[in-house]
Amino acid sequence: MASQFLLLGLLAITCSIVLASDPSPLQDFCVADPKSPVLVNGFVCKDPKLVQANDFFFSGLNIPGNTSNPLGSQVTLATVAQIPGLNTLGISMVRIDYAPMGVIPPHTHPRGSEILTVIEGSLEVGFVTSNPGNRLISKVLHKGDVFVFPVGLIHFERNVGYGNAVAIAALSGQNPGILTIANAVFGSTPPISADVLAKAFQVDKGIVARLESQF
Ligand SMILES: *[C@@H]1O[C@H](CO)[C@@H](O)[C@H](O)[C@H]1NC(C)=O
Repeated sequence: MASQFLLLGLLAITCSIVLASDPSPLQDFCVADPKSPVLVNGFVCKDPKLVQANDFFFSGLNIPGNTSNPLGSQVTLATVAQIPGLNTLGISMVRIDYAPMGVIPPHTHPRGSEILTVIEGSLEVGFVTSNPGNRLISKVLHKGDVFVFPVGLIHFERNVGYGNAVAIAALSGQNPGILTIANAVFGSTPPISADVLAKAFQVDKGIVARLESQF
């Protein structure tokens, strides 16, 4: 009896670890076949005999992103959409460019923790812990510094140097996703009821309408 409970306990611990990230591969690789009509969690595997080096390849993270936009930042993705070989592997990468004063606004990745390193310039970075504490954990980073954003938590970056800044980040998901708070809350389709937003932000509906018009 005791050994059965022990086994169940061990099983529970193992399961919680396995389910805490993308599914672990059951073969060497499962290169995504985005054309398959079969819907699975991730992508169906391409025939391994047809797999080529280019399925595991991406070029262009040396190219600066265009930061001529209202946020002054640009993200270049290297996720499963760009690299089919990432399917089922639970990792991906991005390059982030920041103009002077450029910002990556508060956002979360629903399917990945992030580890970011500064290649050029200086960034103020931070994340906020979940309710009710909502503690801001932040730091100024310089070239070569590394910072971690735990999965699901709202985080941001801001260029606090004099010139452009560049960061490379790795994420623990083939398709970590991005949920930008301002866009999601004030720019959803169809919009969230103004009653809800006015109460949530404790402002009048005129301010809600003004914010919605930005997104
Ligand atoms: C960068 O983006 C701006 C705004 O969309 C555009 O006008 C400009 O041509 C782009 N620059 C380059 C080099 O692509």
